[in-house]
Amino acid sequence: MEKSNGTRVILFPLPLQGCINPMLQLANILYSRGFSITVVHTRFNAPKASNHPLFAFLEISDGLSESQINDDPTSNVMSLLAQINVNAETPFRDCLQKLLLRVSERVSCLIDDCGWLFTQSVAEGLNIPRLVLSTFKATFLNAYPILPCVRTKGYLPVSDSEAEDSVLEFPPLLKRDLSRLYGEFGEKLDPFIDTIVDTTMRSSGLVFMSCEELEKDSLTLSNEIFKVPVFAIGPFHSYFSASSSSLFRQDETCVHWLDNQEDKSVIYVSLGSVVNITESEFLEIAWGLSNSKQPFLWVVRPGLILGAEWIEPLSEELVRSLEEKGKIVKWSPQQEVLAHRAVGGFLTHNGWNSTLESICEGVPMICLPGGWDQMLNARFVSDVWRVGIHLEGQIERKEIEKAVRMLMVESEGAKIRERMNVLKDEVGRSVKDGGSSVRSIETLANHILSL
Ligand code: UDX
Repeated sequence: MEKSNGTRVILFPLPLQGCINPMLQLANILYSRGFSITVVHTRFNAPKASNHPLFAFLEISDGLSESQINDDPTSNVMSLLAQINVNAETPFRDCLQKLLLRVSERVSCLIDDCGWLFTQSVAEGLNIPRLVLSTFKATFLNAYPILPCVRTKGYLPVSDSEAEDSVLEFPPLLKRDLSRLYGEFGEKLDPFIDTIVDTTMRSSGLVFMSCEELEKDSLTLSNEIFKVPVFAIGPFHSYFSASSSSLFRQDETCVHWLDNQEDKSVIYVSLGSVVNITESEFLEIAWGLSNSKQPFLWVVRPGLILGAEWIEPLSEELVRSLEEKGKIVKWSPQQEVLAHRAVGGFLTHNGWNSTLESICEGVPMICLPGGWDQMLNARFVSDVWRVGIHLEGQIERKEIEKAVRMLMVESEGAKIRERMNVLKDEVGRSVKDGGSSVRSIETLANHILSL
């Protein structure tokens, strides 16, 4: 770590695993550059302070009741975030006011997630510059100003004959991606999106976990659209692992299980921390994996399957068949798993963290996006970088078996793997000394000091 620079930064993650990981990784990056760190967080999905003894943690009320928290609140993420965005504003303002009176160092800025709607106004009221962290690919955030108009454009519902057409305003998205992207929320999302565009434009800068090697043009465009300095400081997990910020207990036995598998033979399956699937989709995935005859490591998060606690929908026959070749766990140390020599493919929902983690380990993907930014990430993986196979939303045993075999044992899979290795090397260069991401961290640190 560099010597303390006498400057404190306040971080405020959105309380979801996919947002807490990058924020705490950013905390580590800034700490290593000499900044003191305070993390303000909600009671819901509170990070484990004891895992981060170098940072100060302050909890604020999120106004959620015990039953709201216990009834798997992530089953409706948008409604959860909407509620917390209302409930947490006053506690957040009070917390910052007290903090400013108490700390001895200069507080240079607040850095929080683009999904917080009230923080820009609070920061302006208290005279603290605010930087925005986007846990999305820059291409996706760039589309925010046009998302409401694309929705009203008349593309939906999409007819079969138009499903393969590009969305001209939003390449490389296809029209078939649109209904899942907006989900059931439709026009209810417009006010959120408008606020996020407005507050990002009023901010003092935008930080992406991305790099020029992946999206140079989009990063230039972000700067033009939001008219603030943009910092693409690389896949954050390249500098600091996400395992210390895991909200779930990671089942380490899966790493020992991987130790006994052949090189690049295992397909790793995980749909992240918020996606839900139906029981019949779950059974189709189970049969597809079983019929593929490939070894697999499958993360079935409790609450993943709507209406089920865990894997009880599996029949005894299916459990026996799955156990022949695979292992099911509730949560894995994902970065360690993807880096393991035995893992040769990743069936993923294409959350941006998972997509980056897979690229950095050179693991080709099978894309099964659940919604929102995952639809775009999956198109980049399958159609632009061509480092994965898209299931096109077909959660059917035959399609899953076909995709797993194509990726893991057929010649098409070998070509995809070659392209993935090239992409891995390019992104890897960005986080080495003198690379684009490392240079951007330097610029970000200087920018924060100048605020
Ligand atoms: C959500 C959105 O889906 C994502 O697109 C957005 O960028 C952030 O918020 P999530 O669905 O959880 O995130 O997916 P993802 O972005 O992939 O993040 C999941 C994180 O949990 C990753 O860092 C991954 O390594 C970790 N993880 C996942 C584990 O540590 N163990 C697991 O078993 C599964």
